[in-house]
Amino acid sequence: MKTKPIDTALEDLLEQARQAALNSYSPYSGFRVGAALRLAKGAIVTGTNVENVSYGLTICAERSALVRAIAEHGPDIRIEAVAVANLNNAASPPCGACRQMLAEFTEPDAPVIFPAADGPRTMAFSALLPLAFEMKPK
Ligand code: THU
Repeated sequence: MKTKPIDTALEDLLEQARQAALNSYSPYSGFRVGAALRLAKGAIVTGTNVENVSYGLTICAERSALVRAIAEHGPDIRIEAVAVANLNNAASPPCGACRQMLAEFTEPDAPVIFPAADGPRTMAFSALLPLAFEMKPK
C-alpha cells in the first residue's frame, strides 16, 4: 500500500522540531518534546519543553516556541505552519493550553503536524481548536 506523501516543507519543519527536542529539559517526565513554527515571513522558530521542580511551572515546547517567536520577531507575527515532535515514540498532539495560546497568532488553515498513534498526523489548526476563547465584549 502506498503511504500518503507528506509535504516536504512540513517534513522539514518536523525535522526542526525533532532537533529542538534534543534540547528538552525534562528530568521529571523524561518526555522530550520539540516544536517548530513557520512564520508568514518565512522564518522558522523552534522551542522545547522546560520543566520545573514545581511541576506546574513547566512550559510546553509549543508555548516555548511561541514566546520565542514573539521575542525575536515582534507582536505582529502570523504562524502558517506548526510541527510537534517527541523523542519518546509516543502520540503527542498539542495540549489545550498550547492550542489556546497558538490561536492568538495562528492562521485557521495552518497545518499542524504532530505525532499520533500511527505516525505523524496533519490537521488544520481550526480543526484542532474549533472554538477558541475570544474576548469581544458588547
Ligand atoms: N508537553 C509539551 O511540551 N507539549 C504538549 O503539548 C504537552 C506536554 C510536555 C510538558 C511536560 O514537560 C511533558 O511534556 C510531559 O507532560
